[in-house]
Amino acid sequence: MRDQRIFSQRTKIALWLAIAGLAALAAMVLRLGPAEQRALRQAEAVLASVPPGFGLYVDENLCAECHPQQAASHAQTGHAQTLRRAADWSDAARLDKTSFKDPQRGVTYHYHFAPNEGLAATLPERFGNDPFPLMYAFGSGRRRVSFLSLIPNRLGGTSAIEHRVSVRVEGNGIAFELTPGHTDQAPAQQVEHFGRVLDPVLLVRCLDCHAMRGEVRDQDIQGLEPNVGCQKCHGPGREHATAMREAQSRGRPSLPRPKRSAIEEIRACSQCHVQADAANEFKALPDHFRSVRLQAAELLQSRCFTQSEDRLACSTCHDPHAPIASDTAGYVQRCLECHGAANTVSCPVSPAADCVRCHMPAVETDREGKRHDHRIRRKPATAR
Ligand code: HEC
Ligand code: HEC
Ligand code: HEC
Ligand code: HEC
Ligand code: HEC
Ligand code: HEC
Ligand code: HEC
Repeated sequence: MRDQRIFSQRTKIALWLAIAGLAALAAMVLRLGPAEQRALRQAEAVLASVPPGFGLYVDENLCAECHPQQAASHAQTGHAQTLRRAADWSDAARLDKTSFKDPQRGVTYHYHFAPNEGLAATLPERFGNDPFPLMYAFGSGRRRVSFLSLIPNRLGGTSAIEHRVSVRVEGNGIAFELTPGHTDQAPAQQVEHFGRVLDPVLLVRCLDCHAMRGEVRDQDIQGLEPNVGCQKCHGPGREHATAMREAQSRGRPSLPRPKRSAIEEIRACSQCHVQADAANEFKALPDHFRSVRLQAAELLQSRCFTQSEDRLACSTCHDPHAPIASDTAGYVQRCLECHGAANTVSCPVSPAADCVRCHMPAVETDREGKRHDHRIRRKPATAR
């Protein structure tokens, strides 16, 4: 009876076709000519010669070999200098024998540095000469450097303490200030005289934005690769580096990769230039100055972005490989590329100068000091 056959006629044909296809494929592989085999071997050799990184990432010295200009420029940026052990921080020695009187608690912090011992704080009023080591220094110092210490917690795990005092490097000197978020906090336990206990999840987040990688374990950060490197913005580079090396070794020109769209670029920056907590509230952001630190979220809501058909990205105004420019002329130039010509919308108040002062002013955020308003509002921001 037809119905009891294990395979229908059609299934049998399909099976035979599949087997024939596999056989043809096997034959092709066997017939791989010597040229292809050589190419295959070469690709394997190239792959093996790419210095190992972590997973799909590579050691960024490799990027520098082929892109020396971007690497040299990037090294000058805050991105490349935003985290290190406090003992390795080039300005740590300047803190030695300095002190800072806490304006709220009235006590005085004293700082000590020795190359082989690192950086430490003491609080003589409470703990005599007992040093509290400051282990990691976050921030390039252009705005602020904050210190983190890792100590054992009751469960044998790791707790992070964010030191109550931060510093700014000003010319030849050091300026002290209370770390944002630390004002009006009464110490609930002994260690909080030195700083705030961070939620472990928060420490992992600090590393997401200030390092390539690093794992918090045994009161330390294991395998720390600090700073915002090339691959944080460009994505893992192993495949690209391998392909380029292969092309190079065969003397072939490399194929240009498609350029990223503006929104793709902004997304890369917004991994960090959006506060992690607020990332999901993108659209619901309240229209007040608290959100000016969220440069990406703000820019995406500006008419300059929404009405310019994917032409406005962060790199329109900022060289991503250079320290931030503070001369306003360059920024005005960018504005005028879209607001200067006859058939564009220009300013009825000041058509050719001073745009940033009125449309992107530096305004106070709720706790992080001043930031420039990336919403690019029609009415100067201070008016709202
Ligand atoms: C063996 C040389 C070589 C190495 C190593 C290399 N690159 Fe490239 N890279 C090139 C060449 C050649 C081009 C130009 C091809 C093109 O126009 O896309 C290029 C293009 C680029 C571009 C521009 C094209 C694009 O996708 O936007 C970026 C960004 C880039 N590389 C980043 C990196 C990073 C990051 C690394 C390290 C992970 C790296 N490269 C390692 C040779 C290399
Ligand atoms: C992995 C996180 C991360 C990514 C991705 C990232 N940044 Fe940053 N950015 C930072 C950190 C951290 C700092 C602070 C550096 C310091 O300590 O001075 C910073 C600083 C800056 C500054 C300087 C601010 C100042 O006041 O000096 C600019 C400008 C900037 N980033 C622009 C960008 C742009 C544009 C992109 C995307 C092309 C981008 N960033 C991608 C983390 C990131
Ligand atoms: C979502 C990404 C992100 C996280 C998480 C993050 N930072 Fe940052 N951090 C940045 C960016 C971006 C900047 C610089 C740009 C800006 O301030 O507008 C910065 C700047 C800094 C600065 C320099 C001062 C300043 O305002 O520029 C310090 C110090 C700092 N961060 C410490 C920390 C510490 C400590 C943690 C963890 C408790 C942390 N950050 C978590 C992204 C992040
Ligand atoms: C803060 C983010 C960021 C970092 C860090 C960064 N880049 Fe870029 N890079 C960009 C952006 C944005 C562009 C321009 C738009 C694009 O092509 O995507 C770019 C463009 C490039 C290009 C294309 C040519 C050019 O200059 O426009 C190369 C090559 C490149 N980057 C290599 C590197 C290398 C190598 C490093 C590390 C030393 C690095 N980048 C670090 C964001 C970054
Ligand atoms: C239309 C021009 C423009 C665009 C686009 C733009 N910025 Fe800015 N940005 C500025 C100006 C102007 C300043 C102030 C520079 C100064 O004088 O210090 C600034 C300052 C900054 C700062 C320093 C902190 C602050 O807010 O004062 C960061 C960080 C930053 N921009 C990140 C970004 C990121 C990330 C993007 C993309 C999402 C972006 N910017 C897009 C013009 C622009
Ligand atoms: C890539 C092009 C581009 C750049 C660069 C650019 N804008 Fe715009 N901007 C636009 C477009 C398009 C509009 C919408 C014009 C309209 O109303 O049709 C706009 C709108 C505006 C508005 C009106 C906003 C509103 O909500 O009504 C202001 C103000 C403005 N831009 C100022 C600036 C300033 C200041 C700069 C430089 C810091 C700048 N723009 C850079 C494209 C751009
Ligand atoms: C002294 C403050 C001031 C300066 C400087 C200034 N603007 Fe304006 N701009 C305004 C005000 C106020 C308005 C709103 C006018 C209105 O709504 O009647 C405006 C409106 C605009 C608009 C919207 C025009 C429209 O018809 O929709 C654009 C675009 C703009 N400015 C761009 C710029 C650019 C580009 C620069 C720099 C070349 C600049 N502005 C410099 C105050 C200023």
